Amino acid sequence: MSKIVRAHTNIALIKYWGKANAELRLPLMSSLSMTLDAFYTDTSVEKTNDENAFYLNGQKQDSKQSQRVFSYLTKLQNKFGYHDNLIVKSVNHVPTSAGLASSSSAFAALAAAFCQYYNIQVDKKELSRLARIGSGSACRSIFGGFSVWQKGDSDASSYAYALDEHPQMDLHLLAVELNTNQKKISSTSGMKEAQSSPFFNPWLERNETELNQMIAAIKNDDFTALGELAELNANEMHAINLTAQPEFTYFEPNTIRAIKLVEDLRKEGIECYYTIDAGPNIKILCRLKNSKEIIERFKSVFNNVNIVIANFGPGITYLD
Ligand code: ADP
Ligand code: DP6
Ligand code: CO
Repeated sequence: MSKIVRAHTNIALIKYWGKANAELRLPLMSSLSMTLDAFYTDTSVEKTNDENAFYLNGQKQDSKQSQRVFSYLTKLQNKFGYHDNLIVKSVNHVPTSAGLASSSSAFAALAAAFCQYYNIQVDKKELSRLARIGSGSACRSIFGGFSVWQKGDSDASSYAYALDEHPQMDLHLLAVELNTNQKKISSTSGMKEAQSSPFFNPWLERNETELNQMIAAIKNDDFTALGELAELNANEMHAINLTAQPEFTYFEPNTIRAIKLVEDLRKEGIECYYTIDAGPNIKILCRLKNSKEIIERFKSVFNNVNIVIANFGPGITYLD
């Protein structure tokens, strides 16, 4: 029976930005993320006697827009011995392709919906590996709270695990939606281009240390260490884009203005940090007691911009 599966997006505090193997989406670095409660994708899969069809937010997608979904489902079908035409219905409660991690919730939900439909028994580790093949970041959305994707060196050894599914840390994320239009450079192509940067190898060399420092910050409930390191790691990723050959950036003028505003707030004694993914939008890490004031300042500077406040979200969820 076809049931709806829900997966929440995750935002990396230590980022995945570079692949060792594009086909299997094996990363060159380990990463660590926070699964969010406020953004998610609901997906169902079922057989059809007609052609494959992918509906996103109620709209049938054309063959170009559906290509990634069906090339992924073909891989899954080959792996498990199925050859059906499928209807995929998915609803994104997150802007699509805007650097707010829609592919993380999308492919976690799709992997789980596929297994659910065919009654394929997989544990969460295997599900994480399957989701990874759809979109690398999706392997972390199988779990709630904080999760770590250990890079591994093969399909079998590259998957995420839960670091802490129910963190007690006072950590909130404010997603400032500066521009939710679809980005021009997908994450897949951005991270491929980034490998031409002269700073790519130094970025890789820092990964293990940064991952361990982030795990320690979480274990010590050290918001300051977590925020400082998340900001540094994000800036390292964007520095690589700016120094790729040819160079590129996801930053827009408002992204820089938002960075400056976070710096100003910090100087005023309101502790907050930012992280930015493959898109112009900024995510602010803060404590709950400061969130209202930060939101008010952003709304006054950015013309009532939409800001979504997020906390820790759950792992993969099967809806009735
Ligand atoms: P993002 O920053 O949103 O993760 P990406 O470039 O990583 O952007 O991935 C965007 C791609 O993910 C889309 O072009 C689409 O192929 C795929 N995608 C997004 N949402 C869904 C969904 N609900 N179901 C299937 N695929 C999706
Ligand atoms: C900047 O997982 O979207 O959000 O594996 O090619 O689908 P593909 O890329 P994707 O890349 C995410 C990049 C990031 C950082 C992160 O989530 O770790
Ligand atoms: Co993505």
